[in-house]
Amino acid sequence: MSTPLIDPFARPINYLRVSVTDRCDFRCVYCMAENMTFLPKKELLSLEELDRMCSTFVRLGVEKLRITGGEPLVRRDIMSFFAKMTRHLESGALRELTVTTNGSQLRRFARQLADCGVRRINVSLDTLDEKKFADITRWGRLAQVLDGIDAAQEAGLRIKINTVALKGFNEDELFTLQEWCAERGMDLTFIEVMPMGDLGNEDRLDQYWSLKDLRGRLAERFTLHDLAERTGGPARYVQLEETGQKIGFITPLTHNFCESCNRVRLTCTGELYMCLGQEDMADLRAPLRASEGDGQLEEAIRAAIARKPKGHDFDYSRQKVDGQMTRHMSHTGG
Ligand code: GTP
Ligand code: 5AD
Ligand code: SF4
Repeated sequence: MSTPLIDPFARPINYLRVSVTDRCDFRCVYCMAENMTFLPKKELLSLEELDRMCSTFVRLGVEKLRITGGEPLVRRDIMSFFAKMTRHLESGALRELTVTTNGSQLRRFARQLADCGVRRINVSLDTLDEKKFADITRWGRLAQVLDGIDAAQEAGLRIKINTVALKGFNEDELFTLQEWCAERGMDLTFIEVMPMGDLGNEDRLDQYWSLKDLRGRLAERFTLHDLAERTGGPARYVQLEETGQKIGFITPLTHNFCESCNRVRLTCTGELYMCLGQEDMADLRAPLRASEGDGQLEEAIRAAIARKPKGHDFDYSRQKVDGQMTRHMSHTGG
């Protein structure tokens, strides 16, 4: 294999997140505006091009591939792309092929995902209340997602639930969500809401619920033990002594985990973002299309990694949102 990807801060880059579409069948208020203009289809990388991109990264040492969106499972024929990636699992080059999904299409695709070698998936779910679910996702139906989760468990997939912590919205569901996950044997991770995209009138300071506070609330009921283990993601885990269950915290605002960052993000148009919270990106579509060989693409990837920034600077502290990203989360894939 050629030299692995190491960034200027000596961090090995072995995790690629790929957004395969900017479209979604939901309109979560912290992620999208209600009237989104999506990219024309011709701007998207074809499934063949996505394969070439991912395979080049795998050759350069990427061991973990997470497919995101938008909602990745609404892209037409996306299962044929997963099936293609199976060869990298079989060769041993890839250690994990996984997906982050809103769960709406899992009834249809869970079995096929498992057949392609996917072992665990992350499902986004912020509330177990039907009415609140309809409010936060604007277009989603809770029953459909819960049925999708059932299908995934039937197919033998392990599930991690991702919950965005939102003040005045799901504060009262902390223990409901925790118990529900414990009963079903699912991991649960809370995420601090990040200032992404211009969503019109939503006020982020109003939505922001610090995980420090959330953790304090958990500690009133349970004995928390910090765990040293890492999944290769930014989450830090605690174990609840009383249930044995693991709860994760992703805290881009209150605790910076950038020092151990191992990932980069590819958008559905072939832009490589070296950091979720920075504007800098490299266009990989042009070098990909410039020739049939992958030499130029490899060179462009190395040049991009060589300027990966040290970290993001989201900051809510001075009563205004700093580090606000104009990009929507659905563009970079979370
Ligand atoms: P595992 O640890 O493998 O389960 O995955 P993960 O936590 O990397 O992936 P997941 O898709 O569950 O990520 C959850 C969310 O965490 C993302 O959608 C983002 O909102 C946030 N996140 C993930 N990586 C980063 C990062 O590098 N920087 C920031 N600021 N947020 C991130
Ligand atoms: N802040 C934090 N998390 C977000 N997600 C989407 N937008 C934001 C945001 N502004 C989460 C989703 C999902 C993952 C892909 O990203 O809830 O779990
Ligand atoms: Fe769709 Fe996920 Fe964004 Fe919600 S957070 S609108 S499910 S991409």
